[in-house]
Amino acid sequence: MDSPAEILTRTNAPSFVNNPGLLAWVAGMAQLTKPAAIYWCDGSDEEYHRLCQQLVDAGTFLRLNPAKRANSFLARSDPSDVARVEDRTFICSTEKDSAGPTNNWMAPEEMRALLQHGQPDGSKALFDGCMRGRTMYVVPFSMGPLGSHISHIGIELSDSPYVAVNMKLMTRMGKEVYAVLGTDGNFVPCMHTVGAPLMPGQADVAWPCNKTKYIVHYPETREIWSYGSGYGGNALLGKKCFALRIASNMGRAAAGDSPASLGWLAEHMLILGVTNPQGRKYHVAAAFPSACGKTNFSMLVPPAAFEGWKVTTIGDDIAWIKPHADGRLYAINPEAGYFGVAPGTNMLTNPNCMASLNSDVIFTNVALTDDGDVWWEGLEKDGDALPAHLIDWQGNDWTPQIARASGVDGKLKPAAHPNSRFTVAATNNPALDSAWDDPAGVAIDAFIFGGRRSTTVPLITEARNWVEGVYMAATMGSETTAAAGGQQGVVRRDPFAMLPFAGYNMSDYFQHWLDMGEKLASTGARLPRIYTANWFRKGADGKFVWPGYGENMRVLTWMIDRIEGKSQGTEHVFGVSPAYQEINWSGLDFTTEQFNTVTSIDTAAWKTELQLHADLFKQLAYHLPEALRQTKERIENRLAA
Ligand code: OXD
Ligand code: MN
Repeated sequence: MDSPAEILTRTNAPSFVNNPGLLAWVAGMAQLTKPAAIYWCDGSDEEYHRLCQQLVDAGTFLRLNPAKRANSFLARSDPSDVARVEDRTFICSTEKDSAGPTNNWMAPEEMRALLQHGQPDGSKALFDGCMRGRTMYVVPFSMGPLGSHISHIGIELSDSPYVAVNMKLMTRMGKEVYAVLGTDGNFVPCMHTVGAPLMPGQADVAWPCNKTKYIVHYPETREIWSYGSGYGGNALLGKKCFALRIASNMGRAAAGDSPASLGWLAEHMLILGVTNPQGRKYHVAAAFPSACGKTNFSMLVPPAAFEGWKVTTIGDDIAWIKPHADGRLYAINPEAGYFGVAPGTNMLTNPNCMASLNSDVIFTNVALTDDGDVWWEGLEKDGDALPAHLIDWQGNDWTPQIARASGVDGKLKPAAHPNSRFTVAATNNPALDSAWDDPAGVAIDAFIFGGRRSTTVPLITEARNWVEGVYMAATMGSETTAAAGGQQGVVRRDPFAMLPFAGYNMSDYFQHWLDMGEKLASTGARLPRIYTANWFRKGADGKFVWPGYGENMRVLTWMIDRIEGKSQGTEHVFGVSPAYQEINWSGLDFTTEQFNTVTSIDTAAWKTELQLHADLFKQLAYHLPEALRQTKERIENRLAA
């Protein structure tokens, strides 16, 4: 076996890498995983183009017709590797209670034996030799603007060039990161393998992966180890693994036990700016579960009646939020690109996104048109008809006839996978906020928490105070989507839209939010307002009642009216909702009857809902904040009155 010094020499690190801790880690990981070569990414455009061409040559990428979509590619994953695998995602804290009942847990030493060290019975560790025959890419990235006091650095080691090029679009990736890291800076080590070593002479496949998958986090040592998947949040480790699961631990740990220190928040939230015709700007951070329209909302185009108003995007998926000396909460987008769900995206739902996708995009699992462009369900609404012929996401012929014959429940078989994605740099977005890369972040005026609920939850409600807002966010439910494996369309509690992403005990997470509010308020700070939203109520015909998308501007401006003290609203059992006449309806025919359908509060349904809150609280009993129990009791009393 090579000595560490020999391995270090073999790592062939370029001169711009001078962090001994990093070099030693890469050497150690190379010794474990045994790649055929190590490649240090510099993040240059030349490198990106070269790696994309390499992926084309390997059959992983198909170059799209440049006349249709310049410098863009289509990848088709293995059909078994299409979404985040929540049941294979682990938080390996020393104590099981620290991970809490909503996370899968395994003792760190047990997991390390499985992944890294080998088992007591002599069986080999999964990472031992897992990169044989492949190149290990060293991917340096900053989550957040380079050098911002809110940002943090990660280094991902991956045997997937698909990961390397996606990370270039999704993060601030490149050799500048090493300058920030210096000789003694810290980084979050992110180990990733597709788990498909190549034996000498063995031909590769277009999408290597392994049936066995582990997405593992060690919160105490701030490490990520991901095995077996090449897809999205399982493999692009800056996103869910670092920016949410590990970062949520970092933010809470920063608060410590000191009454004075507040720590910070890592949230599954978009961040948008909304500017009124007088030039006054507000910032809103909004949490919705995966595939519930965060990207659309963050790029919203106001309807014609809102002339002079502007909505701009700071982020579409994740926010890191830190209190500042002025008593306000400042948010940055730790990411630098969008990994968005393609189906449903069209000129009605998100014209800014459509414009972002004109060039320089990596598509995964969408369909291919006969003229070398991409297609997904929802695009037929931009044209007149379904395409006559496509190649579907699995590489098979697709025609409306074939799709009808092989569809389920009278529905056409989709040509694009329901969780097919685009990866695109934020700088492609025509609605990008000028402060999106500001190291100071933007001051948040309001939080919105929203779920996908056909019934029960009204269109918009303002919480009466921070604690009631935290309660509504904590008890939020949502119908499941294709973003994660498993059954779709069933209501599950998704507290703060963080169920799959909170890297520690959910009850402690609630307490962190409560503490943040209390500590800030004790300094005399003005806290952001908290709202709950639901764009997804259905009528008796089973169709959505609220038109959504750009029309959500009407809700956004009501919130701003509330902040400016211009709107009284109507108070009900758990907050304040708009009266019909308080919404600007100009240019939209939406009757009071329709309004009642999306805002009504059905006492019987809410009694059942509160029973579900009780079930959640039973599950989360360990450390559940007393303030939330008391809030529930108060709402129950109001409902009974
Ligand atoms: C995402 C998700 O990819 O939430 O953003 O699944
Ligand atoms: Mn997300």
